[in-house]
Amino acid sequence: MKLTSVMTLSGVLMLSGSVLAQEHTAKASEWTPAELKATLTAMPKGDAARGKQLNQDMMCASCHGEAGQGLTRNWPSTAGQRVEYTYKTLLDYAQGRFAQHRGAGAMAAAASMLTHQQMADLAVYYAAQSSPTASVKPELSKADHKNADIIVRHGDAKRLITPCASCHGVKGEGGINETPALAGQEVLHFERTMQAYKQSTRASDSNGMMRMIASNLTDDEIKSLAAYYANLPAQKGKN
Ligand code: HEC
Ligand code: HEC
Repeated sequence: MKLTSVMTLSGVLMLSGSVLAQEHTAKASEWTPAELKATLTAMPKGDAARGKQLNQDMMCASCHGEAGQGLTRNWPSTAGQRVEYTYKTLLDYAQGRFAQHRGAGAMAAAASMLTHQQMADLAVYYAAQSSPTASVKPELSKADHKNADIIVRHGDAKRLITPCASCHGVKGEGGINETPALAGQEVLHFERTMQAYKQSTRASDSNGMMRMIASNLTDDEIKSLAAYYANLPAQKGKN
């Protein structure tokens, strides 16, 4: 099928969006590891050039910027993110595994307009960009920095906190499969999403791992960790 005009393109997008929206609302249960594995294995091969175009045409750029660098401190950056994480996260919004606060509601609407192919295209485009620079980088006191660094590198066995770095990488560069990069992420998104895990209103993590970890952290520790990751240097996109 050749798409010759923007009119045709948006018509097709709206049509596929409404069909998908029906599919998505039918299913919003939590991921089992097997289901997640099967979904990631079935992920279509994305195309960065198409992703770049979609980022404009679907208005993603109006919040996430032309290359996934969030335009305000309120909106998360998507640049340099792992392909699997972005793909899965777009499915999560469309299927309602995120908190339905204001921001997430806008994302659920945007994501339910996308086909799986388009989700993969956008994911590949964002992953090809260098990781973001946080627009606010709060300074940490020596003591708070040290405490955050201990949680990141060593965790806290007494509270069942596994070191963040063991999954997200020592530089916050992201890990395997859907484990996201965290370096340079906006602090507001980081804190909001950790609180959503803590309150179990974000239930997109398979096995409830992030919900368990977040529920064992204090609010002050979450703040410190957000600042810690916002201050990590950006890296070249290679995820
Ligand atoms: C009106 C502004 C707005 C628009 C338009 C928008 N987003 Fe978002 N996006 C947000 C907000 C706010 C969040 C965080 C919501 C939350 O807290 O769950 C978000 C979250 C995301 C995330 C998850 C980031 C993370 O680190 O977990 C991805 C990926 C994403 N958006 C991609 C897209 C794509 C692709 C489009 C276009 C189809 C799009 N967004 C359109 C505001 C927007
Ligand atoms: C066992 C592996 C593992 C450990 C340990 C871990 N994480 Fe995660 N984290 C994940 C996975 C996998 C996801 C994606 C879950 C999802 O899709 O919702 C995630 C998601 C996140 C997100 C959401 C990112 C976004 O852009 O919305 C944040 C923030 C986060 N983790 C911070 C932390 C911090 C801070 C620690 C240490 C206190 C930590 N994680 C420990 C595996 C882990």
